[in-house]
Amino acid sequence: DKKVKVGLMGMGTVGTGVLRLIEGHQADLLHQTGVQIEVVKILVQDPSKRRNFDVDSDLLTDDPYSLLQDPKIDVIVEVMGGIDQTKEYVLEALEHGKHVITANKDLMAVHGAELLQKAAGKGCDLFYEASVAGGIPILRALVEGFSSDRITKMMGIVNGTSNYILTKMSQEGQSYEKALKEAQELGYAEADPAADVGGLDAARKMSILSTLGFHVGMNLEEVNCQGITDVSLDDMKYGDRLGYTIKLIGIAKQDDELIEVSVQPTMIEKTHPLASVNGVFNAVYVYGEAVGETMFYGPGAGELPTANAVVSDLVTVVKNMKLGVNGRGMVAPYKEKKLKTEEE
Ligand code: NAP
Ligand code: HSE
Repeated sequence: DKKVKVGLMGMGTVGTGVLRLIEGHQADLLHQTGVQIEVVKILVQDPSKRRNFDVDSDLLTDDPYSLLQDPKIDVIVEVMGGIDQTKEYVLEALEHGKHVITANKDLMAVHGAELLQKAAGKGCDLFYEASVAGGIPILRALVEGFSSDRITKMMGIVNGTSNYILTKMSQEGQSYEKALKEAQELGYAEADPAADVGGLDAARKMSILSTLGFHVGMNLEEVNCQGITDVSLDDMKYGDRLGYTIKLIGIAKQDDELIEVSVQPTMIEKTHPLASVNGVFNAVYVYGEAVGETMFYGPGAGELPTANAVVSDLVTVVKNMKLGVNGRGMVAPYKEKKLKTEEE
């Protein structure tokens, strides 16, 4: 009766959801994997802070290396955020032969290729489903569901916070500031929401989608990006009168091998399905030469939807452990990339 032991890095919105799901769905997880999944240590910034989920206080630590170097821990779940320091932690975990699951698009958009290579070299899984579009299993769909097709375009709403703000502004005439505050209270926004409203969070996600969908090594700087900070209630009213609603739209196109990726506030006709994607919901259209048009829709952020993506990755890791096939995950074999220039 072997247990799989998990070190959880972060017990905020997503980390709490992960704990809730592992406890609440224990019997189903055991049924699916045949092993008990146990969280044995939890990294936080402040172990003395009051938590809204009961855990044995002995599990909490502020020493990352007590997880990363613990030989009993099989899997690290990174839901703390951050880039440079977190990259070092993930590398350390992989170096010690631990599988890693992360919800961190900031990290994966910048260092994903290096981390995936390291994971493969160590025979470890590195999964990151929660990093794009929260509860929508879009990465798995791209890697597994379109592998025989040629994707020509991906388009959609991939930031829950900005969509929540735009929805509140357009439907209730609420101020930008109040809507942002609500999105923060609901746990949708990043610790620093500048990336949400400035478009960078969506750009990171579009970069990850393009890497997986087009099989190229996309760089974040290659994504043209504009956020919603300049969208006013007057813009909303004006658009509304003309039959449009404003959404923060990410588009990734591949035309004759020329790739173009952007994020910007866009006027969408009210009859278009993306106009009805409201609140924290996200939607991603994927166009394939063979399949035609497909649309994926669901909650793009929040405790339990995001935790579902993380814990589903965990189930895959555990199943792979049983089969002895870890380390063959989402490493995209990259082809040469040609970016569309302004003249083209
Ligand atoms: P959060 O609520 O701010 O929680 C972060 C957690 O990590 C906290 O428990 C914090 O400790 C801990 N932490 C942060 N920095 C640390 C450090 N340097 N050392 C030790 N512990 C540290 O964040 P979140 O919303 O759960 O997001 C976590 C990650 O998931 C981020 O990468 C985010 O982009 C991603 N994500 C979030 C969502 C969402 O809906 N929120 C959706 C998809 C992906 P304390 O509790 O002691 O402060
Ligand atoms: N802050 C992000 C959002 C969390 O609002 O979409 C999910 O990645």
